[in-house]
Amino acid sequence: MTSNIDYIDKIPNNVDLGRDRVLQRALEHWQPAYMGWWYDMGPTESHHYDVYLRTAISVDPEGWAVFDYVKMPQYRWGIFLTPPTAGREVNFGINKGQPAWQDVPGEYRSMLRRLIVTQGDTEPASVEQQRMLGMCAPSLYDLRNIYQVNVEEGRHLWAMVYLLHRYFGRDGREEAEALLERRSGDVDNPRILGAFNEPTPDWLAFYMFTFFTDRDGKFQLSSLAESGFDPLARTCRFMLTEEAHHMFVGETGVGRIVQRTAEVMAEQHLEDPDDVRALGVIDLPTIQRYLNFHYSVTLDLFGGDISSNAASFYTTGLKGRYEETKIDDDHVLSDATYKVGTVKDGRVFDEEIPALNALNERLRDDYIGEVQAGVDRWNKIIERTGIPFRLRLPHKGFHRQIGNFAGYHISPEGDVMTEAAWKAKRDQWMPSAADYTFVQAMMAGRVVEPGKFANWIAPPRRGIHTQPIDFEYVRFN
Ligand SMILES: [Fe+2]
Ligand SMILES: [Fe+2]
Repeated sequence: MTSNIDYIDKIPNNVDLGRDRVLQRALEHWQPAYMGWWYDMGPTESHHYDVYLRTAISVDPEGWAVFDYVKMPQYRWGIFLTPPTAGREVNFGINKGQPAWQDVPGEYRSMLRRLIVTQGDTEPASVEQQRMLGMCAPSLYDLRNIYQVNVEEGRHLWAMVYLLHRYFGRDGREEAEALLERRSGDVDNPRILGAFNEPTPDWLAFYMFTFFTDRDGKFQLSSLAESGFDPLARTCRFMLTEEAHHMFVGETGVGRIVQRTAEVMAEQHLEDPDDVRALGVIDLPTIQRYLNFHYSVTLDLFGGDISSNAASFYTTGLKGRYEETKIDDDHVLSDATYKVGTVKDGRVFDEEIPALNALNERLRDDYIGEVQAGVDRWNKIIERTGIPFRLRLPHKGFHRQIGNFAGYHISPEGDVMTEAAWKAKRDQWMPSAADYTFVQAMMAGRVVEPGKFANWIAPPRRGIHTQPIDFEYVRFN
């Protein structure tokens, strides 16, 4: 035996990695390439820092959240699947009632591979998008949080690569390599989905991304967690435990920025955005513009409103609806209909289409419901300060590149406009170059003293894992 075994033992897992020689060999080739990617594209200048991180070392409640100081290149990226459910079946589509598949059904192989690759591609993409942000972190607490998100996105990539290596043979190995070769925003070899090629240039964008775009991740993972392909379902179920923290970072991050701004406005009796900016906080209309941007590009991630692909994924039993098994219907959807928005004669209206073809739209609507609840909580924070401003979600058709609204120019209120009229208003609705310049200038430099926070953000209510807010969450060495 060579040193393989030691090395495999270093990967925490509940898939009996040590016994699977084929998988070991595949991972031996992939792991060094992954580390090369992490050194190149992971958080910049971070490789020697000691970071107070949680690591999943098993799937039990005590094992999935062990906290300690870790140098990120030594993070133990593990492979975990939620334990199997005895007697689990395919719960929807034409194969409903069959035992859940433990191997890839041959006829669905390429569809399944595509679902796994598309999900897997988003994971390293977000690490690439966020890699410079550590240099301008507003506190050690926030710096630790972004690094936690980054290492867990790395682990999510491992999760998808495990499935590719274990179940897809040679083409799975090729896809696993390609996942390390694409780059967010690269002209020649970009990431697969649009929102994952947008820059995340500052911390307001980062919190918006983790609130809106990581939540798309939650909804995609939730519908894959319903899959009739059991290893995919179990992998995604475990990933969801980590995703919750990412969305917490986003919601509380935006909430703390909103809180700080509203408090300054209330104290100083200011409303004009220029006056607010002069005090070193982000004016609420700028926050609204960031919201409009991140919400609209994330809505596109759900895909076309009318989709025969989504219908195939469902009918075959590969990708379910959000909380499929809790829904009370036939789980086949052959006669059901669903409303999707569309544009006709210069107006937005709803049309009924077969529910099978509207599954992307249905998932998008489930997502919108959750996002709205988060926006309501941000508005409560503003309301408590007595400031009358309220954030709101723009119309579903605003700034869309995919689906029925693509190609139209729709205002945040839902009015269909001419291109010229829309463009004239663009900078009132979306962050302008000047907004980005302002926000980035305010965020120049990072705050490194434990317990201190940049002026533009309120401290969190509590620290991480029972530690105090002024804990030394990152040691720079
Ligand atoms: Fe993820
Ligand atoms: Fe995430």
